[in-house]
Amino acid sequence: MSFKAIKEAPPRLNRSELAVPGTSPQFFEKAAKSDVDVIFLDLEDAVAPDKKAEARKNIIQAIGDIDWGKKTLSVRINGLDTPYMYRDVVDLLEQSSDRLDLIMIPKVGTAADAYAVDMLVTQVEDAKGRKKRIGFEYIIETALGMQNIHEIAAASPRGESLHFGVADYAAFTRARTTMIGGPNPDYGVLTGGADDKDRQFHWGDMWHYAIARMVVAARANGLRPIDGPFGDFSDPDGFRAQGNRAATLGCEGKWAIHPSQIVLANEVYTPPEKEVTKAKRILEAMEQAQKEGKGAVTLDGRLIDIASIKQAETLVAKAAQIAAN
Ligand code: GLV
Ligand code: MG
Repeated sequence: MSFKAIKEAPPRLNRSELAVPGTSPQFFEKAAKSDVDVIFLDLEDAVAPDKKAEARKNIIQAIGDIDWGKKTLSVRINGLDTPYMYRDVVDLLEQSSDRLDLIMIPKVGTAADAYAVDMLVTQVEDAKGRKKRIGFEYIIETALGMQNIHEIAAASPRGESLHFGVADYAAFTRARTTMIGGPNPDYGVLTGGADDKDRQFHWGDMWHYAIARMVVAARANGLRPIDGPFGDFSDPDGFRAQGNRAATLGCEGKWAIHPSQIVLANEVYTPPEKEVTKAKRILEAMEQAQKEGKGAVTLDGRLIDIASIKQAETLVAKAAQIAAN
C-alpha cells in the first residue's frame, strides 16, 4: 500500500440516478416514491433558458415540501460558462431546506471550476449557518474535463462522484455516435486477412477508454464512478449490456433518464446473491488460512490470496448496504 491514504466519499448507494427536469414538478413525487437511489433535479440541459428561474423556484420549494424518504437528493446546476450558475447556487443554498445532499456540476473542465463552486457554496453555507455540508458530483463530459479528470477528482473535499456524460462527451470530442451511450456499428475490427473467407466483424466498445479512465480517477480519490445515460429507453437489453460492461470496469451505478431504467440499473448494480455467498466463503477461507499462517489457499479448485479479501469485503459491504436501505 502507498503511504498516502485515500479518503472515501460518504458511503451512499448510487446504483441508479434518475434525472428529473426542474420544469416538471408533476414528476417529483413519483421520483420520490420510486426505487431509485439518487435523484437529480435538473436546472441545466433539460431546462430552456427562459424557464431557468421557474425551474429553480420549483426545485427549491420541492426540496422542502416533498418527502424524499431515504433517497439522496441532488440538483444539477448550470455550467460555469453560463449566466445562471451563480444564482443556482446562491438561491438553492440560501432558500432550500437542508434536505439537499449534493450539487451536480456539469461540464466541469478544470480543478479550478470545482474550486470556484466550492468557494461559492462555502460562503453561502457559512453565511446562512447551514450545518450540512453539500457534496459534489462532477460530470465529465468534455475533452477538457477528461484531460483534467485526475485534478478534478482531487479538487475539493466535497467531491463524491464522477459521472460519464456520454452525450456531451460525444459532441465535444466529435465522436461519431448514433445513439446516446450506445455502441456504434462502425467501431469494431475485422478478423483475419484479405484472403480469409470467414472474416468476422467484431463490435467494440467505443467508450471503453473514457469509462476506464474515469474509474481510475474516481477510485484513486475515493469517489464513486457512475456511468451516464443510455438514450433508448425502449431497449432494456441494450441498457443492461451497457450497464454490465461499465460495472465490470468498476462503476458503481448508472443514470436513468426514464423511470423504466431505474429497475434495470438497480438490478445491474446489485451484487447477485450467488456472488455474495461466494465472497463470504472467500472471507471465511482466508481467515482460516491466516490462522494457519498461509497467504493463499485453494477454494473450489481456484487460488485465492490476500488480494481476494479486499474484493470480497467490498462485495459483502455493498450487499449489507443494500439490505439496510
Ligand atoms: C449528460 O449530461 C450527458 O451529456 O450525457
Ligand atoms: Mg450533458
